[in-house]
Amino acid sequence: MNKAPILIAAAILGSFAVGGVGLVAMTHELTAERIAANEREAMLAKLKAIVPAGRVANDPLQDRIQVSEPDLLGAPQTEVYRVRDEDEPVAVILQPVVPDGYAGPIRLLVSVLRDGSLGGVRVLEHHETPGLGDKIDEKKSDWIVEQFNGKSLSNPPLEAWQVKRDGGEFDQFTGATITPRSIVNAVKNTLLFVEREGDALYGPASAPAMGPANEAEPRAPVMEEPATADPSSPLGATVAEAG
Ligand SMILES: Cc1cc2nc3c(=O)[nH]c(=O)nc-3n(C[C@H](O)[C@H](O)[C@H](O)COP(=O)(O)O)c2cc1C
Repeated sequence: MNKAPILIAAAILGSFAVGGVGLVAMTHELTAERIAANEREAMLAKLKAIVPAGRVANDPLQDRIQVSEPDLLGAPQTEVYRVRDEDEPVAVILQPVVPDGYAGPIRLLVSVLRDGSLGGVRVLEHHETPGLGDKIDEKKSDWIVEQFNGKSLSNPPLEAWQVKRDGGEFDQFTGATITPRSIVNAVKNTLLFVEREGDALYGPASAPAMGPANEAEPRAPVMEEPATADPSSPLGATVAEAG
């Protein structure tokens, strides 16, 4: 029996298979790069939207640290993006997690200007109910812009950082108080954290992790460079390498 035609067919099939796999791999590589670049641009636009226009001279996605203050910021590690105009600090933008949303954790961006007032608050990710809790999303309503822009720990005073139903100054939604209550509390806690840390948040990362040597002392946050962080991933939690 002449095996030549079979071998030729096998060789042709084989070369198509190898070529196909190569093409898929190349397409994946090119697409992944483009997706990462798009996500990076989208995140940068979100950051710029909550700081004063024209005052972002640095790249906040590169100029960032991670802090560890789970009690106030809702997660073991929290990103802090620093915004500078030349060398002058303009704002820090934190990415806290609201632990007690109605339908699970809510991821926020909170911009705190150097004078302690809010540049803006935005929701990065949530699972709240459409038509009820999802009004926290700026695409669904103006609530988050109207409630927080320009506010600080003295405006309104600390005791008024609650929804109106609880005696505070912030609007809740009709039939949905849990979501706004959790956001107001998380934004207040973020402001408390920034007030406590002050300008240290604009400084270089301090290498040694400062743990609470004595629980009676105020807890210092751990500040680290985001060693394995992926700046292109707006929603992916990033974890600094221990060390
Ligand atoms: C199916 C369903 C979904 C709900 N989703 C939300 C929500 O996303 N956010 C929220 O605050 N409350 C939500 N609620 C209402 C809460 O259970 C709770 O009643 C409400 O937050 C309390 O606010 P109120 O005191 O203004 O009624 C939901 C209720 C139901 C039955």
